[in-house]
Parts: sequence; C-alpha cells; structure tokens
Amino acid sequence: MLTDLQKEIIDLKDEKNAIILAHNYQPKEIQEVADFLGDSLELCIKASEIDDKDLVVFCGVDFMAETAFILNPDKKILIPDKDAECPMAHMLSSYEVKEAKEKHPDAAVVLYVNSLAEAKAEADILCTSANALKVVESLKEDKILFGPDNNLGKFVARQTDKEIILIPEGGHCYVHKMFHKGDIAFAKEKYPNAQIIVHPECDIEVQDFADAVLSTGGMISYVKESSDNEFIIGTEVDLITRLKREIPEKKSYPLLDEAICKTMKLHSLEKVKNSLVNEEYPISVPEDIAKKSLKAVQRMIDVSK
Ligand code: 13P
Ligand code: SF4
Repeated sequence: MLTDLQKEIIDLKDEKNAIILAHNYQPKEIQEVADFLGDSLELCIKASEIDDKDLVVFCGVDFMAETAFILNPDKKILIPDKDAECPMAHMLSSYEVKEAKEKHPDAAVVLYVNSLAEAKAEADILCTSANALKVVESLKEDKILFGPDNNLGKFVARQTDKEIILIPEGGHCYVHKMFHKGDIAFAKEKYPNAQIIVHPECDIEVQDFADAVLSTGGMISYVKESSDNEFIIGTEVDLITRLKREIPEKKSYPLLDEAICKTMKLHSLEKVKNSLVNEEYPISVPEDIAKKSLKAVQRMIDVSK
C-alpha cells in the first residue's frame, strides 16, 4: 500500500504533467512512485520518447540526468539531490579524451554513458553495459578508445577482434570493485543451486566465475526468463528490490550486502516531492556541449533499436 507522501507525489506528478524516471538501483519507496524503471540504456531510450511531458524528475545519478537533458534541451530535467554523482563518470576528463585521440588518430572513441557531458562531446558514440559489444562491432574502425570503465572495456575486448585501448588507466566503479572471486565461492557454498549473475563493471576474475554477465536490465530479463529459481546477484543491492517486487516467486540474494552505491541513495521521497513542488534541481549542459554530445547519444540509440 502506498503512503500518504507517495500518494501526494503521484498527484503532484499529474498536476505538473511530470514523469519520474528511476534507475534500477533506487530504493523500494522510489521504485513504487516511478513511472519508468530501467537500466541506463532503457532510461536513455525512454528519455528520448517523452514529448508529451513538461517535467522530468530523474532519480539516478548525474550522468543519467545529463543525458536526459541532452536529449531534451527544452524540457526541465530535475534531479532530487544535486550531489548524486557517479564517481566513475568523473574519472575521465574531456582533456584526457582529446589527448588519447591525438595519440591514436585512427581510433574511434566509444564512451560509456557513465561519463561527463564534456567527455561525451568528444566521443563518436556512447555505449552502456547492455550494448557495449554491439556498439563496438557497429563501427568501421578496428581500433577503439574505450572509457572510463576498464572492466567493461575488458569484457568487450575478449569478445571482439578489434583493438580496445582503455582510457583512463584504472577507470572503475567502486561498488563493483567490492566483489572478489572469494565472495562467489562463499555464495556458491551457501546457495549451491543458485545461478551467479554479475555486472560487467565487476573485475574480470569475478566475471569468469559467473554464469552470466549482464546489465541490470539484462539481469531482470534473465531471471524472468530462466527456468531456474535461485540467483546470486553481483551488482548494487537494490536490484534485488526490483527482482523481489516483479518476480516474487524466484529467490535472489545479493553477492555482497555492502554493495551500495551511496550517491544513488541520496534521493528520498521528501526530495522527490520537493523537486515537483519547487522544480529543483534543474540539470543543464552548455549548449555547444549538449549539441556535440547529442550526436554520440543518438548514434547509440540508433544502433540499439
Ligand atoms: P546499468 O546500465 O547496467 O543499469 O548500469 C548502470 C550503472 O551505473 C552500473 O553501476
Ligand atoms: Fe556509478 Fe558505480 Fe554507482 Fe553505477 S554503481 S552509478 S557506476 S558509482
């Protein structure tokens, strides 16, 4: 049952002709008021299809809301807590991308959507964890500059003949770095019948011990479609919240209870209400950067559809 605050948010949404987009890592109370829940690619595609809405409240991290703005520069895109940043996105500057391009002029630049708008403006195309291999394979170049997540880059590199050059050295997600192969051995002992599913931001040796390596949206489809009943999930803990809400008949366990993305958790129902009432906090990207990065965002959407 919804709380009074949740009902208020739903009424405000109608009043303001707003939509709440939320990432799969949002907590239960936010998942319950969201109009659309998804992984980065699903959210990006959804953000490209919201012409009928005046306001977007984005419950996710900065790069996701920025991408929604790039796709909708005339709309108000709001983020409930303005400190909700993805540390990985801040690991690669546009300067570093330009420098890498000068060093490898024959390479195409594929940037993970978890990157700053200024860096996206230097990319040929973006990718997410759901489509990285497909994006790389869609390019004519045999040499690819790939960043900022080194693990996603390595995940792609082992499935393609193209040369993948990782930028920057050491780009990573601190949440997915928490998992070690020992955690998998421990979880397998505890739940011997469970399948292990991990995110491609995990270290390669963790990926090697998994039954499947998937984006968060891919994990949801996998659990839905599998004939198995138990799953160990190697990503942020609130993905389990969505799995339990949507597929309650199957059991899923976190690979680590501590795998929490702190900035994803900065949003709250009170802050979502504040966003709707006071139209805070607006996301914006300078016009020239937004225009340049739109090409890379749109190209990714076109390749993915
Ligand atoms: P997904 O696109 O798979 O949801 O991943 C986003 C993310 O930030 C993972 O940490
Ligand atoms: Fe960024 Fe990692 Fe949080 Fe995803 S889980 S938003 S990559 S810090």
